[in-house]
Amino acid sequence: MGRPRARAGRAYHPRVSTLPKVDTDPARLAQPFPADFAWGFAASAYQIEGAAAEDGRGPSIWDTFARQPGAIADGSTGDVACDHFHRYPEDVRLMADLGARAYRFSISWSRVLPTGTGAINQRGLDFYQRLVDAMLGAGVKPLINLFHWDLPQALQDRGGFANPEVVGWFTDYAALLASNLGDRVKAWMTFNEPAVFAFMGHADGVHAPGLRDWPTAILVADNELRAHAAAARAIHDLVPGSSVGMAIDVNQVVPATDSERDRVAAGQWSSARDAWFLDPLFGRGYPALGLEAHREAGHLEGIDLIDPPAGDLDYLGLNYYRRDSVSARSDRAFDWDIGAVSGSEQTQMGWHVASDGLRDTLLELNQAYAPPEIVITENGAAYPDTVDSDGRIRDSGRVDYLARHVAAASEALRAGVPLTGYYVWSLLDNFEWSLGFDRRFGLVHVDFDSQRRTRKDSARWYQRLIAGVAPSTSRPGDDLSPGPRARDRVDTER
Ligand code: FCB
Repeated sequence: MGRPRARAGRAYHPRVSTLPKVDTDPARLAQPFPADFAWGFAASAYQIEGAAAEDGRGPSIWDTFARQPGAIADGSTGDVACDHFHRYPEDVRLMADLGARAYRFSISWSRVLPTGTGAINQRGLDFYQRLVDAMLGAGVKPLINLFHWDLPQALQDRGGFANPEVVGWFTDYAALLASNLGDRVKAWMTFNEPAVFAFMGHADGVHAPGLRDWPTAILVADNELRAHAAAARAIHDLVPGSSVGMAIDVNQVVPATDSERDRVAAGQWSSARDAWFLDPLFGRGYPALGLEAHREAGHLEGIDLIDPPAGDLDYLGLNYYRRDSVSARSDRAFDWDIGAVSGSEQTQMGWHVASDGLRDTLLELNQAYAPPEIVITENGAAYPDTVDSDGRIRDSGRVDYLARHVAAASEALRAGVPLTGYYVWSLLDNFEWSLGFDRRFGLVHVDFDSQRRTRKDSARWYQRLIAGVAPSTSRPGDDLSPGPRARDRVDTER
Protein backbone atom coordinates (compact mmCIF):
# COMPACT_ATOMS: atom_id res chain seq x y z
CA MET A 1 0.00 0.00 0.00
CA GLY A 2 1.33 3.39 -0.64
CA ARG A 3 0.66 4.28 -4.19
CA PRO A 4 -2.60 3.29 -5.75
CA ARG A 5 -1.64 1.46 -8.88
CA ALA A 6 -3.10 2.00 -12.24
CA ARG A 7 -3.88 -1.36 -13.68
CA ALA A 8 -1.75 -2.31 -16.64
CA GLY A 9 -3.33 -1.99 -20.00
CA ARG A 10 -6.45 -0.40 -18.59
CA ALA A 11 -8.10 1.76 -21.20
CA TYR A 12 -8.02 5.42 -20.42
CA HIS A 13 -11.35 7.13 -20.88
CA PRO A 14 -10.81 10.83 -21.07
CA ARG A 15 -13.83 12.53 -19.62
CA VAL A 16 -15.07 16.03 -19.98
CA SER A 17 -13.44 17.90 -17.15
CA THR A 18 -15.67 18.56 -14.19
CA LEU A 19 -13.11 20.88 -12.66
CA PRO A 20 -13.53 24.64 -12.90
CA LYS A 21 -11.58 26.10 -15.81
CA VAL A 22 -8.08 27.17 -14.97
CA ASP A 23 -6.08 30.08 -16.29
CA THR A 24 -3.10 28.42 -17.96
CA ASP A 25 -1.46 31.70 -19.06
CA PRO A 26 2.15 31.14 -17.99
CA ALA A 27 2.96 34.84 -17.74
CA ARG A 28 0.18 35.43 -15.24
CA LEU A 29 0.90 32.23 -13.31
CA ALA A 30 4.56 33.19 -13.03
CA GLN A 31 3.90 36.54 -11.36
CA PRO A 32 3.86 35.61 -7.65
CA PHE A 33 7.12 33.66 -7.79
CA PRO A 34 10.43 35.22 -6.78
CA ALA A 35 13.27 35.52 -9.29
CA ASP A 36 15.43 32.95 -7.50
CA PHE A 37 12.70 30.29 -7.39
CA ALA A 38 14.15 26.89 -8.38
CA TRP A 39 12.11 25.78 -11.39
CA GLY A 40 13.35 22.42 -12.48
CA PHE A 41 12.86 18.85 -13.54
CA ALA A 42 13.20 15.64 -11.53
CA ALA A 43 14.29 12.20 -12.72
CA SER A 44 15.89 9.06 -11.36
CA ALA A 45 18.78 6.87 -12.45
CA TYR A 46 17.06 3.55 -13.14
CA GLN A 47 14.20 5.22 -14.98
CA ILE A 48 16.35 7.02 -17.55
CA GLU A 49 20.02 6.01 -17.60
CA GLY A 50 20.03 2.60 -19.28
CA ALA A 51 23.61 1.31 -19.80
CA ALA A 52 22.79 -1.24 -17.15
CA ALA A 53 25.88 -3.34 -17.66
CA GLU A 54 28.25 -0.68 -18.94
CA ASP A 55 31.42 0.79 -17.54
CA GLY A 56 31.46 -1.52 -14.55
CA ARG A 57 27.97 -0.90 -13.15
CA GLY A 58 26.81 -3.69 -10.82
CA PRO A 59 23.24 -5.01 -10.75
CA SER A 60 20.62 -3.38 -8.56
CA ILE A 61 17.45 -4.86 -7.12
CA TRP A 62 15.48 -3.26 -9.97
CA ASP A 63 17.54 -5.16 -12.56
CA THR A 64 16.64 -8.36 -10.73
CA PHE A 65 13.01 -7.49 -10.08
CA ALA A 66 12.26 -6.35 -13.63
CA ARG A 67 13.33 -9.77 -14.87
CA GLN A 68 10.79 -11.63 -12.76
CA PRO A 69 7.96 -12.80 -15.00
CA GLY A 70 4.93 -10.57 -14.58
CA ALA A 71 6.68 -7.97 -12.45
CA ILE A 72 6.55 -5.25 -15.12
CA ALA A 73 3.28 -4.78 -16.99
CA ASP A 74 4.80 -4.53 -20.47
CA GLY A 75 7.65 -6.96 -19.78
CA SER A 76 10.24 -4.20 -20.14
CA THR A 77 13.33 -3.38 -18.06
CA GLY A 78 15.45 -0.29 -17.50
CA ASP A 79 18.37 -1.83 -19.43
CA VAL A 80 18.22 0.95 -22.05
CA ALA A 81 15.41 3.27 -20.89
CA CYS A 82 16.12 6.77 -22.27
CA ASP A 83 19.78 5.94 -22.87
CA HIS A 84 20.53 9.04 -20.82
CA PHE A 85 23.91 7.56 -19.84
CA HIS A 86 25.05 8.23 -23.41
CA ARG A 87 22.72 11.09 -24.31
CA TYR A 88 23.12 13.24 -21.20
CA PRO A 89 24.80 16.12 -23.10
CA GLU A 90 21.72 16.42 -25.31
CA ASP A 91 19.38 16.08 -22.32
CA VAL A 92 21.22 18.75 -20.35
CA ARG A 93 21.12 21.10 -23.33
CA LEU A 94 17.43 20.40 -23.65
CA MET A 95 16.60 21.24 -20.04
CA ALA A 96 18.78 24.35 -20.18
CA ASP A 97 17.09 25.41 -23.38
CA LEU A 98 13.72 25.08 -21.65
CA GLY A 99 15.06 27.46 -19.02
CA ALA A 100 15.38 24.99 -16.13
CA ARG A 101 17.24 26.48 -13.19
CA ALA A 102 17.70 23.18 -11.42
CA TYR A 103 17.70 19.46 -12.07
CA ARG A 104 17.10 16.76 -9.52
CA PHE A 105 18.69 13.45 -10.50
CA SER A 106 19.65 10.33 -8.61
CA ILE A 107 22.87 8.39 -8.36
CA SER A 108 22.85 4.72 -9.19
CA TRP A 109 24.56 3.31 -6.09
CA SER A 110 25.65 0.19 -7.97
CA ARG A 111 27.24 2.29 -10.72
CA VAL A 112 29.67 3.86 -8.26
CA LEU A 113 29.95 0.93 -5.84
CA PRO A 114 29.07 -2.20 -7.87
CA THR A 115 28.63 -4.37 -4.79
CA GLY A 116 27.38 -1.57 -2.57
CA THR A 117 30.43 -1.34 -0.33
CA GLY A 118 34.19 -1.56 -0.82
CA ALA A 119 35.64 -1.27 -4.32
CA ILE A 120 34.86 2.01 -6.04
CA ASN A 121 34.02 2.01 -9.75
CA GLN A 122 35.86 5.10 -10.95
CA ARG A 123 34.15 5.02 -14.36
CA GLY A 124 30.80 5.23 -12.62
CA LEU A 125 31.90 8.20 -10.55
CA ASP A 126 33.31 9.82 -13.68
CA PHE A 127 29.89 9.68 -15.31
CA TYR A 128 28.34 11.75 -12.53
CA GLN A 129 31.31 14.15 -12.65
CA ARG A 130 30.66 14.70 -16.35
CA LEU A 131 26.93 15.10 -15.77
CA VAL A 132 27.42 17.68 -13.03
CA ASP A 133 29.96 19.59 -15.10
CA ALA A 134 27.60 19.63 -18.07
CA MET A 135 24.82 21.00 -15.89
CA LEU A 136 26.97 23.68 -14.31
CA GLY A 137 28.25 24.64 -17.74
CA ALA A 138 24.65 25.08 -18.89
CA GLY A 139 23.62 27.11 -15.84
CA VAL A 140 21.48 24.35 -14.31
CA LYS A 141 21.88 23.76 -10.58
CA PRO A 142 22.26 20.11 -9.56
CA LEU A 143 20.22 18.55 -6.75
CA ILE A 144 21.58 15.08 -6.04
CA ASN A 145 19.31 12.39 -4.71
CA LEU A 146 21.29 9.47 -3.26
CA PHE A 147 18.56 6.87 -3.22
CA HIS A 148 15.72 6.35 -5.65
CA TRP A 149 15.02 2.69 -4.78
CA ASP A 150 17.78 0.95 -6.82
CA LEU A 151 19.74 -0.74 -4.04
CA PRO A 152 22.78 -2.75 -5.17
CA GLN A 153 21.71 -6.39 -5.43
CA ALA A 154 24.77 -7.47 -3.44
CA LEU A 155 23.44 -5.52 -0.46
CA GLN A 156 19.97 -7.02 -0.83
CA ASP A 157 21.70 -10.40 -0.68
CA ARG A 158 22.98 -9.32 2.75
CA GLY A 159 19.49 -8.41 3.99
CA GLY A 160 19.14 -5.04 2.26
CA PHE A 161 17.47 -2.24 4.16
CA ALA A 162 16.16 -4.65 6.78
CA ASN A 163 19.74 -5.20 7.94
CA PRO A 164 20.77 -2.46 10.43
CA GLU A 165 24.24 -2.51 8.86
CA VAL A 166 22.69 -0.55 6.00
CA VAL A 167 23.10 2.61 8.08
CA GLY A 168 26.87 2.26 7.76
CA TRP A 169 26.76 1.16 4.11
CA PHE A 170 24.59 4.12 3.16
CA THR A 171 26.65 6.63 5.14
CA ASP A 172 29.88 5.48 3.47
CA TYR A 173 28.20 5.74 0.07
CA ALA A 174 26.90 9.24 0.88
CA ALA A 175 30.36 10.30 2.08
CA LEU A 176 31.94 9.00 -1.13
CA LEU A 177 29.64 11.12 -3.28
CA ALA A 178 29.86 14.13 -0.99
CA SER A 179 33.65 14.09 -1.09
CA ASN A 180 33.76 13.68 -4.86
CA LEU A 181 31.03 16.13 -5.88
CA GLY A 182 30.61 18.37 -2.85
CA ASP A 183 32.96 21.01 -4.24
CA ARG A 184 30.35 21.73 -6.94
CA VAL A 185 27.08 20.40 -5.56
CA LYS A 186 25.52 21.93 -2.46
CA ALA A 187 21.96 20.60 -2.71
CA TRP A 188 21.51 17.00 -1.55
CA MET A 189 18.70 14.60 -0.90
CA THR A 190 19.15 11.32 0.94
CA PHE A 191 15.97 9.43 0.01
CA ASN A 192 13.12 9.66 -2.42
CA GLU A 193 9.78 8.46 -1.08
CA PRO A 194 10.99 6.20 1.71
CA ALA A 195 7.41 4.97 2.28
CA VAL A 196 7.05 3.71 -1.28
CA PHE A 197 10.37 1.88 -1.07
CA ALA A 198 9.59 0.34 2.33
CA PHE A 199 5.92 -0.51 1.90
CA MET A 200 5.51 -1.22 -1.81
CA GLY A 201 8.83 -3.03 -2.04
CA HIS A 202 8.66 -5.06 1.19
CA ALA A 203 4.97 -5.39 2.16
CA ASP A 204 3.03 -5.23 -1.12
CA GLY A 205 5.69 -6.86 -3.27
CA VAL A 206 4.90 -4.76 -6.33
CA HIS A 207 8.24 -2.91 -6.36
CA ALA A 208 11.75 -4.29 -5.91
CA PRO A 209 12.80 -6.31 -4.01
CA GLY A 210 9.29 -7.77 -4.24
CA LEU A 211 8.86 -8.93 -0.63
CA ARG A 212 5.54 -9.31 1.15
CA ASP A 213 6.21 -9.04 4.84
CA TRP A 214 5.03 -6.11 6.94
CA PRO A 215 7.48 -6.48 9.84
CA THR A 216 10.31 -6.37 7.27
CA ALA A 217 8.80 -3.22 5.75
CA ILE A 218 8.68 -1.58 9.19
CA LEU A 219 12.36 -2.42 9.78
CA VAL A 220 13.24 -1.03 6.35
CA ALA A 221 11.46 2.24 7.13
CA ASP A 222 13.24 2.45 10.48
CA ASN A 223 16.64 1.90 8.88
CA GLU A 224 15.90 4.47 6.17
CA LEU A 225 15.31 7.08 8.88
CA ARG A 226 18.49 6.07 10.72
CA ALA A 227 20.51 6.00 7.49
CA HIS A 228 19.18 9.45 6.60
CA ALA A 229 20.25 10.93 9.95
CA ALA A 230 23.76 9.47 9.73
CA ALA A 231 24.26 10.37 6.06
CA ALA A 232 22.95 13.92 6.55
CA ARG A 233 25.56 14.41 9.28
CA ALA A 234 28.28 13.09 6.97
CA ILE A 235 27.26 15.37 4.10
CA HIS A 236 27.06 18.40 6.38
CA ASP A 237 30.56 17.62 7.68
CA LEU A 238 32.06 17.11 4.23
CA VAL A 239 30.29 19.82 2.24
CA PRO A 240 30.39 23.29 3.74
CA GLY A 241 27.23 25.20 2.97
CA SER A 242 25.33 22.07 1.96
CA SER A 243 21.58 21.77 2.16
CA VAL A 244 20.29 18.26 2.90
CA GLY A 245 16.69 17.11 2.67
CA MET A 246 14.44 14.20 1.82
CA ALA A 247 11.56 13.84 -0.65
CA ILE A 248 8.47 12.55 1.11
CA ASP A 249 5.40 11.68 -0.91
CA VAL A 250 2.45 13.18 0.85
CA ASN A 251 -0.73 13.12 -1.13
CA GLN A 252 -3.94 14.44 0.28
CA VAL A 253 -5.68 11.76 2.34
CA VAL A 254 -9.41 12.11 2.89
CA PRO A 255 -12.16 9.79 4.15
CA ALA A 256 -14.26 8.46 1.26
CA THR A 257 -17.47 9.31 3.16
CA ASP A 258 -18.37 11.14 6.31
CA SER A 259 -18.87 7.90 8.22
CA GLU A 260 -17.02 7.47 11.52
CA ARG A 261 -15.36 4.33 10.16
CA ASP A 262 -13.94 6.06 7.06
CA ARG A 263 -12.77 9.02 9.11
CA VAL A 264 -10.91 6.77 11.56
CA ALA A 265 -9.42 4.80 8.66
CA ALA A 266 -8.18 7.94 6.88
CA GLY A 267 -6.62 9.25 10.09
CA GLN A 268 -4.90 5.94 10.78
CA TRP A 269 -3.62 5.58 7.23
CA SER A 270 -2.13 9.03 7.04
CA SER A 271 -0.48 8.53 10.43
CA ALA A 272 0.75 5.01 9.66
CA ARG A 273 2.21 6.14 6.36
CA ASP A 274 2.99 9.87 6.12
CA ALA A 275 3.46 10.88 9.76
CA TRP A 276 5.35 7.60 10.15
CA PHE A 277 8.28 9.35 8.45
CA LEU A 278 7.53 13.01 9.08
CA ASP A 279 7.14 12.80 12.86
CA PRO A 280 10.47 11.03 13.47
CA LEU A 281 12.24 13.32 10.96
CA PHE A 282 11.10 16.32 12.96
CA GLY A 283 12.22 14.77 16.24
CA ARG A 284 8.87 13.55 17.52
CA GLY A 285 9.34 9.80 17.24
CA TYR A 286 6.76 7.48 15.73
CA PRO A 287 3.16 8.78 15.85
CA ALA A 288 0.78 7.17 18.37
CA LEU A 289 -2.08 6.66 15.91
CA GLY A 290 0.16 5.01 13.33
CA LEU A 291 1.74 2.79 15.99
CA GLU A 292 -1.70 1.68 17.10
CA ALA A 293 -2.78 0.86 13.52
CA HIS A 294 0.42 -1.04 12.66
CA ARG A 295 0.32 -2.92 15.96
CA GLU A 296 -3.35 -3.88 15.53
CA ALA A 297 -2.64 -5.15 12.01
CA GLY A 298 0.23 -7.31 13.29
CA HIS A 299 2.91 -5.32 11.45
CA LEU A 300 5.10 -4.87 14.52
CA GLU A 301 5.33 -8.52 15.49
CA GLY A 302 8.78 -9.41 16.76
CA ILE A 303 9.97 -5.81 16.49
CA ASP A 304 11.15 -3.62 19.31
CA LEU A 305 10.82 -0.14 17.79
CA ILE A 306 12.92 2.63 19.22
CA ASP A 307 12.40 6.16 17.91
CA PRO A 308 15.04 7.10 15.34
CA PRO A 309 17.07 10.31 15.65
CA ALA A 310 15.66 13.55 14.18
CA GLY A 311 16.51 14.26 10.55
CA ASP A 312 17.75 17.86 10.77
CA LEU A 313 16.29 18.68 7.37
CA ASP A 314 17.45 21.88 5.71
CA TYR A 315 14.40 21.55 3.47
CA LEU A 316 11.43 19.26 3.26
CA GLY A 317 10.91 17.82 -0.21
CA LEU A 318 7.27 17.20 -1.10
CA ASN A 319 6.24 14.86 -3.92
CA TYR A 320 2.57 15.55 -4.58
CA TYR A 321 0.33 14.02 -7.24
CA ARG A 322 -3.23 13.36 -6.10
CA ARG A 323 -5.99 12.95 -3.56
CA ASP A 324 -6.41 9.52 -1.98
CA SER A 325 -9.78 8.61 -0.54
CA VAL A 326 -9.86 5.98 2.17
CA SER A 327 -12.83 3.72 2.58
CA ALA A 328 -12.95 1.17 5.41
CA ARG A 329 -14.03 -2.35 4.52
CA SER A 330 -14.33 -3.25 8.20
CA ASP A 331 -13.21 -1.86 11.56
CA ARG A 332 -9.86 -3.59 11.24
CA ALA A 333 -6.77 -1.46 10.70
CA PHE A 334 -5.43 -1.71 7.14
CA ASP A 335 -8.62 -3.31 5.86
CA TRP A 336 -9.10 -0.33 3.62
CA ASP A 337 -9.59 0.63 -0.02
CA ILE A 338 -7.44 3.56 -1.01
CA GLY A 339 -7.65 5.42 -4.30
CA ALA A 340 -9.55 7.89 -6.41
CA VAL A 341 -13.25 8.27 -5.75
CA SER A 342 -15.16 7.02 -8.74
CA GLY A 343 -16.25 9.70 -11.15
CA SER A 344 -13.43 12.03 -10.16
CA GLU A 345 -11.13 13.67 -12.68
CA GLN A 346 -8.18 11.28 -13.08
CA THR A 347 -4.88 11.01 -14.90
CA GLN A 348 -3.89 7.88 -16.80
CA MET A 349 -2.50 6.49 -13.53
CA GLY A 350 -6.02 6.54 -12.13
CA TRP A 351 -4.86 9.30 -9.77
CA HIS A 352 -7.45 11.87 -8.68
CA VAL A 353 -6.47 15.36 -9.86
CA ALA A 354 -6.77 17.65 -6.82
CA SER A 355 -4.63 20.77 -6.94
CA ASP A 356 -6.40 22.28 -3.93
CA GLY A 357 -4.95 19.29 -2.09
CA LEU A 358 -1.46 20.54 -2.95
CA ARG A 359 -2.19 23.96 -1.47
CA ASP A 360 -3.73 22.43 1.66
CA THR A 361 -0.93 19.90 2.08
CA LEU A 362 1.69 22.67 1.85
CA LEU A 363 -0.18 24.73 4.44
CA GLU A 364 -0.63 21.76 6.76
CA LEU A 365 2.99 20.61 6.52
CA ASN A 366 4.17 24.14 7.22
CA GLN A 367 1.87 24.49 10.18
CA ALA A 368 2.59 21.06 11.64
CA TYR A 369 6.36 20.90 11.19
CA ALA A 370 7.59 24.42 10.34
CA PRO A 371 10.44 23.21 8.10
CA PRO A 372 13.04 25.87 7.18
CA GLU A 373 12.08 25.45 3.52
CA ILE A 374 9.70 23.35 1.45
CA VAL A 375 10.52 22.29 -2.09
CA ILE A 376 7.99 20.58 -4.35
CA THR A 377 10.38 17.86 -5.46
CA GLU A 378 7.90 16.10 -7.77
CA ASN A 379 4.60 16.93 -9.43
CA GLY A 380 3.35 15.86 -12.83
CA ALA A 381 0.93 13.69 -14.73
CA ALA A 382 0.71 10.74 -17.13
CA TYR A 383 -1.63 11.04 -20.09
CA PRO A 384 -1.80 8.88 -23.21
CA ASP A 385 -0.07 11.39 -25.50
CA THR A 386 -0.42 11.12 -29.22
CA VAL A 387 1.93 12.46 -31.84
CA ASP A 388 -0.21 14.33 -34.36
CA SER A 389 0.43 14.12 -38.09
CA ASP A 390 2.25 17.45 -37.95
CA GLY A 391 4.60 15.96 -35.36
CA ARG A 392 3.23 18.03 -32.51
CA ILE A 393 2.15 16.58 -29.18
CA ARG A 394 -0.79 18.59 -27.94
CA ASP A 395 -0.81 17.45 -24.32
CA SER A 396 -3.36 19.95 -23.09
CA GLY A 397 -4.36 17.69 -20.19
CA ARG A 398 -0.83 17.90 -18.81
CA VAL A 399 -0.65 21.68 -19.31
CA ASP A 400 -3.91 22.00 -17.43
CA TYR A 401 -2.68 19.73 -14.62
CA LEU A 402 0.58 21.66 -14.26
CA ALA A 403 -1.12 25.06 -14.40
CA ARG A 404 -3.54 24.07 -11.64
CA HIS A 405 -0.74 22.85 -9.41
CA VAL A 406 1.50 25.86 -10.04
CA ALA A 407 -1.46 28.08 -9.14
CA ALA A 408 -2.00 26.07 -5.95
CA ALA A 409 1.69 26.40 -5.10
CA SER A 410 1.51 30.15 -5.56
CA GLU A 411 -1.48 30.35 -3.22
CA ALA A 412 0.54 28.53 -0.57
CA LEU A 413 3.50 30.82 -1.19
CA ARG A 414 1.33 33.90 -0.74
CA ALA A 415 -0.08 32.39 2.46
CA GLY A 416 3.45 32.31 3.91
CA VAL A 417 4.72 28.80 3.10
CA PRO A 418 8.52 29.01 2.63
CA LEU A 419 8.37 27.39 -0.80
CA THR A 420 11.62 27.66 -2.75
CA GLY A 421 11.34 25.31 -5.70
CA TYR A 422 9.16 23.25 -8.02
CA TYR A 423 10.44 20.22 -9.92
CA VAL A 424 8.27 18.72 -12.62
CA TRP A 425 8.23 14.96 -12.91
CA SER A 426 9.70 14.60 -15.50
CA LEU A 427 11.79 16.01 -18.36
CA LEU A 428 11.53 12.82 -20.44
CA ASP A 429 9.04 10.00 -20.78
CA ASN A 430 10.72 7.13 -18.96
CA PHE A 431 10.49 3.71 -17.31
CA GLU A 432 7.56 4.01 -14.94
CA TRP A 433 8.49 1.16 -12.58
CA SER A 434 6.01 -1.74 -12.58
CA LEU A 435 4.08 -0.11 -15.44
CA GLY A 436 7.09 -0.05 -17.73
CA PHE A 437 6.97 2.36 -20.66
CA ASP A 438 3.22 2.44 -20.74
CA ARG A 439 2.84 5.65 -18.72
CA ARG A 440 4.36 8.87 -20.06
CA PHE A 441 5.14 11.63 -17.57
CA GLY A 442 7.59 13.61 -19.70
CA LEU A 443 7.26 17.18 -20.92
CA VAL A 444 9.45 15.86 -23.70
CA HIS A 445 8.28 12.85 -25.67
CA VAL A 446 10.70 9.97 -26.16
CA ASP A 447 10.40 7.59 -29.07
CA PHE A 448 11.92 4.52 -27.43
CA ASP A 449 12.90 2.94 -30.75
CA SER A 450 14.87 5.87 -32.11
CA GLN A 451 15.50 7.68 -28.78
CA ARG A 452 14.35 10.82 -30.52
CA ARG A 453 13.26 13.57 -28.09
CA THR A 454 10.35 15.83 -29.10
CA ARG A 455 9.04 18.69 -26.98
CA LYS A 456 5.39 18.42 -26.11
CA ASP A 457 3.21 21.53 -25.82
CA SER A 458 3.70 21.29 -22.04
CA ALA A 459 7.46 21.79 -22.47
CA ARG A 460 6.88 25.05 -24.34
CA TRP A 461 4.35 26.09 -21.71
CA TYR A 462 6.83 25.40 -18.89
CA GLN A 463 9.52 27.29 -20.77
CA ARG A 464 7.26 30.35 -20.98
CA LEU A 465 6.36 30.04 -17.31
CA ILE A 466 10.00 30.04 -16.21
CA ALA A 467 10.89 32.83 -18.60
CA GLY A 468 7.99 34.85 -17.21
CA VAL A 469 9.28 34.69 -13.67
CA ALA A 470 12.54 36.49 -14.17
CA PRO A 471 13.12 37.68 -17.71
CA SER A 472 16.15 39.62 -16.55
CA THR A 473 18.05 36.43 -15.78
CA SER A 474 17.09 34.66 -18.98
CA ARG A 475 19.80 33.05 -20.98
CA PRO A 476 20.06 32.60 -24.71
CA GLY A 477 17.65 29.86 -25.61
CA ASP A 478 14.98 30.91 -23.11
CA ASP A 479 12.86 32.32 -25.86
CA LEU A 480 10.17 30.35 -27.56
CA SER A 481 12.00 29.59 -30.74
CA PRO A 482 14.28 26.60 -30.52
CA GLY A 483 17.37 28.75 -31.09
CA PRO A 484 20.45 27.67 -33.02
CA ARG A 485 21.70 25.34 -30.30
CA ALA A 486 18.43 23.50 -30.16
CA ARG A 487 17.96 23.39 -33.89
CA ASP A 488 21.41 22.16 -34.61
CA ARG A 489 22.12 19.82 -31.81
CA VAL A 490 18.95 18.89 -29.99
CA ASP A 491 16.74 16.71 -32.08
CA THR A 492 13.51 17.70 -30.44
CA GLU A 493 11.68 19.76 -33.00
CA ARG A 494 9.73 18.69 -35.97
C1 FCB B 1 6.91 8.93 -7.85
C2 FCB B 1 8.32 8.40 -8.06
C3 FCB B 1 8.86 8.68 -9.44
C4 FCB B 1 7.82 8.49 -10.51
C5 FCB B 1 6.58 9.28 -10.17
C6 FCB B 1 5.50 9.18 -11.22
O1 FCB B 1 6.28 8.19 -6.85
O2 FCB B 1 9.19 8.97 -7.11
O3 FCB B 1 9.98 7.85 -9.64
O4 FCB B 1 7.56 7.16 -10.68
O5 FCB B 1 6.06 8.84 -8.94
